[in-house]
Amino acid sequence: MGRIPDVSIAPPGPKAREVIAKDREYMATSTKCSPIVAERASGSVVWDVDGNSYLDFSSGIAVLNVGHCHPQVVEAVRSQAGKLWHFAGTDYYYEAQAELSRRLASSLPGDRKVFLSNSGAESVEAAIKVCRWHSKRKRFLSFIGAFHGRTMGALSLTASKPVQQGRFFPTMPGVTHVPYAYCYRCPYKLEHPDCDCWCARVIEELYLDTLVPPDEVAGLFMEPMQGEGGYIIPPPEFPRILRDICDRHGIALVDDEVQAGMGRTGRMWAIEHFGVVPDVLCSAKALGSGLPIGATVFRADMDFGWQGAHSNTFGGNLLACASAMATLDVISDEGLLSQAVRKGEHVRRRLQEAQTTYPLIGDVRGLGMMNAIELVTDTDAKTYAVKERDRVIELSYRRGLVLLPCGKSGIRLIPPLNIPDEQLDQGIDIIIRAISEVE
Ligand SMILES: Cc1ncc(COP(=O)(O)O)c(C=O)c1O
Repeated sequence: MGRIPDVSIAPPGPKAREVIAKDREYMATSTKCSPIVAERASGSVVWDVDGNSYLDFSSGIAVLNVGHCHPQVVEAVRSQAGKLWHFAGTDYYYEAQAELSRRLASSLPGDRKVFLSNSGAESVEAAIKVCRWHSKRKRFLSFIGAFHGRTMGALSLTASKPVQQGRFFPTMPGVTHVPYAYCYRCPYKLEHPDCDCWCARVIEELYLDTLVPPDEVAGLFMEPMQGEGGYIIPPPEFPRILRDICDRHGIALVDDEVQAGMGRTGRMWAIEHFGVVPDVLCSAKALGSGLPIGATVFRADMDFGWQGAHSNTFGGNLLACASAMATLDVISDEGLLSQAVRKGEHVRRRLQEAQTTYPLIGDVRGLGMMNAIELVTDTDAKTYAVKERDRVIELSYRRGLVLLPCGKSGIRLIPPLNIPDEQLDQGIDIIIRAISEVE
């Protein structure tokens, strides 16, 4: 079950080995995949405890959109740390929470309210609760391949690997998973656009007509681009058809932007690429640039309105709020949305060129700086190249590039949006060299 850390990969140095041994003795098994023991970082570079440096094409799992320790963010946190850390923003008031909420609310059309939390999963939990609260309905729709987090509510929506739900059943009842628009491997073996986007229409024409009474569905959760599931981009009409279905049946469309949001795809929110306005939006990860914060932004009329219906202790912690507002400033001051568009096009161009030489690269896909390659051992049969993918990641790591897998045989390329062009090319060179060796 799942990916077990590979002990045969020798850590880079003696200090790292020591830390890894201690970690293995005392820390619960999680999802560790490379023996890098990070000590400090700046921009797109991470140094380990033995002084090795790595180019970071993982951004701490899509968290460091503005780079590690951005001076403006560091200064904002430092200045807040000398004033006030915590007083319980759900019970009392902080200017920083109100202002951050105002900024997030105004990033979407219409009147919005915001619930601040501590993580992506918690932002999803709040979305589940706000949908149920508002509609008094109980059921949810989610997608095969989705990742929405690992707390029991969020986990019930998650379906990207069996290990995630394995042994934890029963999760929250009432969630039905439907196939996502994975055109490279269409679940219905159809071709786009001849398919008329059947994977979206099937929700209404089959599921809501047979299995799931639409007037019992509180919300439909979607990632505008599936993350953990394989960096899968739906065709443009897919989210629009979902929006129509939700409108016809009074279902809230919940847009999980935990991974794809905060400028990663070249728009503030990835859903903007599709011209669709969600009822609820979940953010976390890059919002705090490494300090834990989650935000659930929802239609103002969906608000709980009852004191105590939902709350927490640390949500919207002052240091995290300071970090989030400085992060939003950096995204706008440094023009990171347009940087993401330009650099992302460059990344895909280089990878597509490499694809003509190396058939191991089955697919190159992405939006802005949220890009991935899917490796296959047979171009026609699209056989998942799982071992080859792991080897490419390992060889890249040995040459100083940090990469993360996604889906069954994908590799994510998600460096900070402000990575210098030279470092971006250096990282791509390392990946292509590793692919050439594995091929
Ligand atoms: C789309 C999406 N939603 C939710 C989560 C859960 O976030 P967290 O790990 O902060 O709980 C993730 C994490 O990878 C994610 O990618």
